[in-house]
Amino acid sequence: MWEATLKPDVISYSAAISACEKRDQWQHALALLGEMRVAKLEPDSATTLGSARARRASSGSGLWRCFARCGRRSWSKTSSTYSAGISACEKGEQWQRALTLLREMCEAKVESNVISYGAGITACEKGRQWQHAVSLLHDMWNAMLGTRAISYNAGIGAVPAHYAAIRVCEVSGQWAKALDLLESMLGARVDTAAAKNPDAGRYLHVFQAGGPMDVFKHVILVALLQQMTSDVDPFTFIDTHAGAGVYDLNSEESLRRRRFEEGVLRLSRAADSCGRGLVADYLDAVRSCNQALGAPQRAMGIYPGSPALAWQWLRPQDSAVFFEAAAEPYESLRRSVALLGRDADRRPVLLRDDSYLRIALGHLPWPSGRQLVLIDPPYDSVQSHATWNVYIIRRLLQRSPSTCVALWYPLVDEEQVASLHGQVRSLAGRSVLVAEMRLENSLPGGSALQGSGMLIVNPPPAVHAQLLAALPGLGRALRAPDYRVLWL
Ligand SMILES: C[S@@+](CC[C@H](N)C(=O)[O-])C[C@H]1O[C@@H](n2cnc3c(N)ncnc32)[C@H](O)[C@@H]1O
Repeated sequence: MWEATLKPDVISYSAAISACEKRDQWQHALALLGEMRVAKLEPDSATTLGSARARRASSGSGLWRCFARCGRRSWSKTSSTYSAGISACEKGEQWQRALTLLREMCEAKVESNVISYGAGITACEKGRQWQHAVSLLHDMWNAMLGTRAISYNAGIGAVPAHYAAIRVCEVSGQWAKALDLLESMLGARVDTAAAKNPDAGRYLHVFQAGGPMDVFKHVILVALLQQMTSDVDPFTFIDTHAGAGVYDLNSEESLRRRRFEEGVLRLSRAADSCGRGLVADYLDAVRSCNQALGAPQRAMGIYPGSPALAWQWLRPQDSAVFFEAAAEPYESLRRSVALLGRDADRRPVLLRDDSYLRIALGHLPWPSGRQLVLIDPPYDSVQSHATWNVYIIRRLLQRSPSTCVALWYPLVDEEQVASLHGQVRSLAGRSVLVAEMRLENSLPGGSALQGSGMLIVNPPPAVHAQLLAALPGLGRALRAPDYRVLWL
């Protein structure tokens, strides 16, 4: 264009920057942006986006510096340029700069939106600034409510910002605030589908099925089922995260990580050293599930998940509700239940739904009598579930104070675990039983999960003694010498 003595304008620069950015030519994109400044051309939203991506490619943490170098004062003061700048600060973990830009935006009377606020709140989350995050969240809602009725898209856009504020309150030990924010998100009537946990559906349990942590959890579940069925009164078993029901240990996915070798297989080989009692009852249940599904005598190729185990204990007077949010495990669950539930009028209720939302909104298809609730969220997204877990325990206890709730959690961060214990104990207002187990040579930050715990609110009284008797043998067999059972 220069050779043809044509002068490029904003549109031609935008197109060129966008083309460079698409082909990863970020140096050229940044050079063109510099030329625009020299030519005193104001970048529009397309160049802003293209150049922001180019800068992101050039250096993740240096992005905000690039933004500052390009001289934001010469930029047109639009929502999108400010949002790009705040996002740059967020990526560069510069929460103070993000707040400064948000303040400037306000002073310049440029309309802020869910994108600019969302980036600011995420910047505060990264900087562990929970007070600033909460205050920005309030400003965001005020700004949205002040301008017009909240649009559908703005409502959806507000959800990630809300989750970011909840997470920073949670990691800062501000549980009461985190719970308030969750409640306000539900009360704000943002589209409930959008309020669903963003991580639901990403995790496939088949990779972990039958591993040591699964076995530990399921042995405790068996103890709870045995105690619940020792009383003739009916009860409902509610599995908030049911998974696929049963798992084929010869499947490609299971064989990829072979977690079951250190778990259920190791335990079955060491069964004799565990003696009679809880562990033996659990192994019998695994075998009888294999037999029910037609596996050869004493085979262990099929691993029963929590719904399949529970199904073995439930009596005609009892009922069950299984929640599963993701399509693939839900279909497997449906097939497993059809195979295991021989008795047509004794079928569990299957719900392909987000259990957190259903419980939070009070849409509960079970009576308020005796209940055992298992909350078994996916490990990889447990952080984004922590406030939800505490919130639904509170809702369940508000509805039926004597509900027995068992919550599984990973042992990753000691501070977070202590904070979770404190929070559940204070909201339960009574003693909570905890069992934890850690594998031998567990390495902090190792790829496989090395330890986990189960927290039980309103445990049937005999469970404590059952766990004290079973864990030494279980720990030896699973090479998990570090275990404990305690009352909070
Ligand atoms: C750890 S696995 C469950 C394992 C199962 N409880 C067992 O012991 O065999 C967690 C499951 O929860 C599902 N899930 C994740 N978020 C959910 C939600 N909000 N509501 C219902 N299911 C959810 C995942 O798709 C996954 O299948």
